Amino acid sequence: MKIGVLTGGGDCPGLNPVIRGIVRKATNDGHEVIGFLNGWKGIIEGTTTPLDLNAVCGILPKGGTILGTSRTNPYKKPEDVNKVKESFKKFKLDALIAIGGEDTLGVANKLVKDGLNVVGVPKTIDNDLNATDYTFGFDTAINIAMECIDRLHTTAASHHRILVAEVMGRHAGWIATYAGIAGGADVVLIPELPIDLDDVCAILKKRKARGRDFSIVVVAEGAQLKQSDILQDQSLDEFGHVKLGGIGDFLAKEIEKRTGFETRVSVFGHIQRGGSPTAADRILGTRFGIKAVELVEKKQFGHMVSLSGTKIVAVPLSSAVEKLRTVDMEIYDVAKEFFG
Ligand code: F6P
Repeated sequence: MKIGVLTGGGDCPGLNPVIRGIVRKATNDGHEVIGFLNGWKGIIEGTTTPLDLNAVCGILPKGGTILGTSRTNPYKKPEDVNKVKESFKKFKLDALIAIGGEDTLGVANKLVKDGLNVVGVPKTIDNDLNATDYTFGFDTAINIAMECIDRLHTTAASHHRILVAEVMGRHAGWIATYAGIAGGADVVLIPELPIDLDDVCAILKKRKARGRDFSIVVVAEGAQLKQSDILQDQSLDEFGHVKLGGIGDFLAKEIEKRTGFETRVSVFGHIQRGGSPTAADRILGTRFGIKAVELVEKKQFGHMVSLSGTKIVAVPLSSAVEKLRTVDMEIYDVAKEFFG
């Protein structure tokens, strides 16, 4: 068989282990693999790279994706969907493995309905994809965020300050919640629960009253105030997402104004997405890659690999993109136990 592979959307630690897993399994089973560069852009434009054992040698510990990525959406222009179909023919593909988040997998799902043989691999540091227990990249992101929070603790304590840490998480507060628990945050604010500034300030004052003259507030970039929306700018990407950011800065100013406590902000940003994947993400990515080839071999097109408990299974692509997986309030309650 001839199998195409692409990585779309935001990059994510663990993408290279997936690609390596795909190439190793496919080569062992006698298939040929070809990589499309920069997400759906590569298959629209026909830009490719051969993926053999040499091409994936040494990529396991590397962050990012050797294939490059983009947020190109072929369904923005009907001619681009036709170009994807033409590429399938031109490159004599028996199947395509699309590695990506909600947007990339949404396109994959539509292409299956349009008659193409596509299999999905779920990816996002945000961990907000439905129909899988975890996505790779999340473990690396929370470990980086945890380490940053540890570092904020020592400077916050020395200066008797409040430090607001803004982490990624567009629609879901998984990173904020997990990194907040692991890093011992005093307040965690997530997109699922609109922020009440009075409550936040009351928690910080209560903490001060019991002799703690520093605090760490972790906020997800997509968290919103009960009253208004904080956006970095109003421009949209090809999938219609606004650029987020700015909530941390706003919170820090507002907390200082309302409590009189000296407050600073630290925005972790793309550091959470860069660099080498953790062992957990390397293993999950590798398992996803191997399973994706098995799905192709069994002609289980229109499916995505998924983690269910400790097993890697196949689920319909449609179930992955039908809704976002938001934070389980049971785990948020664990973080909440340590507020104040
Ligand atoms: O991939 C998900 C994500 O990291 C979100 O958490 C974040 O809002 C977004 O990507 C940032 O996108 P970009 O890299 O395009 O700024």
